[in-house]
Amino acid sequence: MNGLPPGPSNPLVTTLKYLRAPYATLLETAQRYGDPYSWPSFLGSMVVTGDPAGIRTLFTADPDTYLALGAELLGPVLGESNLILLSGERHRAMRKLQLPPFHGARMRAYGQLIIDAAQEHAARWPRDRPIQIHRTMQEISLQVILEAVLGLRKPETRETFKTAVLSVIAALKPSFMFIEALRRPLFGLSAWARFQRKRAHVTALFEEELRARRAPPEPREDILSLLLSARYEDGSALTDDELLTQMMNLIVAGHETTASSLAWAFHHIHREPAVKARLVEELRGLPETLDPEAVSRLPYLEAVCSEALRLEPVAPLIGRKLRTGLTLQGFDLPPGTSVGISILQVHRRADLYPDPERFRPERFLERSYTPFEYLPFGGGARRCLGAAFALYEMKLVLATLLRKYDLRPANNAPVGVAVRNTTVGPRGEVELLHA
Ligand code: HEM
Repeated sequence: MNGLPPGPSNPLVTTLKYLRAPYATLLETAQRYGDPYSWPSFLGSMVVTGDPAGIRTLFTADPDTYLALGAELLGPVLGESNLILLSGERHRAMRKLQLPPFHGARMRAYGQLIIDAAQEHAARWPRDRPIQIHRTMQEISLQVILEAVLGLRKPETRETFKTAVLSVIAALKPSFMFIEALRRPLFGLSAWARFQRKRAHVTALFEEELRARRAPPEPREDILSLLLSARYEDGSALTDDELLTQMMNLIVAGHETTASSLAWAFHHIHREPAVKARLVEELRGLPETLDPEAVSRLPYLEAVCSEALRLEPVAPLIGRKLRTGLTLQGFDLPPGTSVGISILQVHRRADLYPDPERFRPERFLERSYTPFEYLPFGGGARRCLGAAFALYEMKLVLATLLRKYDLRPANNAPVGVAVRNTTVGPRGEVELLHA
């Protein structure tokens, strides 16, 4: 079939609707137009599927069928060598260099620092007021990623980096990510100029850290150290600019996503007393001193994390750009078309997940799902590099805190969904009280 499938026509209206209510807009569009549908955006029209058969087509196609989405537009903002913007051979080579630090065995090195970060931040929780769970999770995940990725051990250095990184993220406006005309310095007064200044400050900090790290090298297990000694197949090392871009990307990709997923997990666990009781019971079987490996093998804890990632995917829609033509669900799409996968839509299918709006971890113990039915971390050649790390962190933070603290919801108000930079997360706070 030639031509694009039907869909809403106005990118501005659709974008505004998405910014106001991302989940509802995606689900309503699929319901109204069927599968696949066309989704208008500032990156051009995107053909979206949320059907396992369509997802299978997209994930199993030769990786060279695709280019990264928005590379030309986002390169100047996120760094031209950023893994998420690379395609083809450059993507493969850069990904290969970054994979080893995320391998299962390496993960053990990060277990204790995750437990310590969770304990340290929860120790500051108020006794007599609602605890702001999302905020705590952001603090924990940022500390974890700074320690694991950059190996920053001294609290003062971590604090300096944390402030600098958070101010770059805050200065990164979605508007100038997508509208090139807004990237003007305007005598240093524009939002773009402000972003550039914040980024230059982080770059200077990184460069100082790199210099210190290269001087007498000591054996370390953080991701920066591993990348410093990594070599491409031709024997060359990453340039300083490549290193800085990847570090920044890992910090951004790795902290907000995990924090939002953890906040959702806390929210749902405490709204479903039977889930909480079963989880606490499972955790009770652990020895006093937590062994990260034993925690990561707990079946119900794993099911709880999977269910939080299913019900509230932080990346509800992911995309690629076609380099070559592809037939998707009967539509012959020409090169240059963008294709998207609605992770949210497939995660909310009643035929796969009965009573889909309900938080019911048991479903993951009752049956298994294919990578085209359950895909919180995306799939194919671009599947999330930090998936194992994120899941490990979620399990350890939940186990550490649920064993120590008995909490209850501060209120019964529903928690909405908000767009945060390129991901989505809880709108406002997830508030809990000491029971
Ligand atoms: C719960 C937490 C997380 C979720 C739900 C998540 C989800 C995702 C998704 C959906 C993608 C796009 C995959 C695709 O296009 O097929 C992605 C890509 C990526 N994620 Fe994550 N992520 C999480 C945590 C992390 C962490 C902790 C790190 C690193 C420390 C990380 C690093 C990356 C990188 C580098 C990519 C780009 C991969 C590529 O383009 O080859 N993520 N993530």
